[in-house]
Amino acid sequence: MTARAAVSVACANIALAKYWGKADERENLPAVPSLSLTLAGLATRTRVEVDSALGEDEVALDGAPARGRALDRVVGVLEELRKLRGARLFARVTSSNDFPTASGLASSASGFAALALAGAGAFGLDLEPEAVSALARRASASAARSVFGGYVALEAGAQSAERVLSGDAFPLRMVVALTASGPKSVGSTEGMLRTAATSPYYRPWVDDAPRVYRAVREAVLLRDLGALGPAVEASALRMHASMFAAEPPIVYFTPATLAAMQAVRDLRARGTLAFYTMDAGPHVKVLAAPADADAVAEALRATRGVERVVVCAPGPDATLEVE
Ligand code: PMV
Repeated sequence: MTARAAVSVACANIALAKYWGKADERENLPAVPSLSLTLAGLATRTRVEVDSALGEDEVALDGAPARGRALDRVVGVLEELRKLRGARLFARVTSSNDFPTASGLASSASGFAALALAGAGAFGLDLEPEAVSALARRASASAARSVFGGYVALEAGAQSAERVLSGDAFPLRMVVALTASGPKSVGSTEGMLRTAATSPYYRPWVDDAPRVYRAVREAVLLRDLGALGPAVEASALRMHASMFAAEPPIVYFTPATLAAMQAVRDLRARGTLAFYTMDAGPHVKVLAAPADADAVAEALRATRGVERVVVCAPGPDATLEVE
């Protein structure tokens, strides 16, 4: 009997230019380019142990056995690893997040990046970061970006993500306002497929997204928050507009989401450069300079319906420890 384990830690990322829509559903390739910031402090820690005594995979997420689609997605990544390793070996997976799972806080991004990296280690595969990113992408395209720290891009149709700029080169803060707990109503895959199938605004979104992506990318490379912010807000609002027009509509916003967005506009009216973005959930993430992060956090804490505020600095690459 042989067992080999690896542990990895990967951080969540928040897209500044959003991914919404698939170019290829089976391969899980994105229809639009996206660019994200990896966040320190919102991390998933995953341990994978390949054990020749196991007859099937065993998966525990945040202390509870995984079932249904959550289990299938993890097993899907392990299947890819078995193919790469050329051996029918099963694994014991334990994974825990230090933030609410499936709430629009991109837990699938850090989770699948950590799983791909720890899995590669436990299966004894020496994969380049690009290959780990491609493996993570198959489970969740945004996870391809969490393999890298700092500012990270995933081009339309790309297999893997790539770093655009280190976090140290443009050390912004992402102030995360958690507006409600509990699982989201529509998962991102279901939401994307429904938007693509039914929303008259899906095509315009896909056609326009590369332009917004380029604006985001250029502003990141120029380290220009004043140019970055409006492009970040445009990307988020256009993505949500495409969802509002789906049948049935997909609305992740709650009154607290709108109140937090207004708080950010009020800050801006008083001269603070702060800009919001929202994903497949009700939370509001606000991009600001480090010197303004405390004032932004204070304003969000004072907003009705905001339950918790976390200030995040740019995060590092996903890391692996072989046990
Ligand atoms: O990677 P997925 O399937 O969880 O989709 C992520 C979609 C958004 O978070 C809404 C946008 C993004 O680019 O992260």
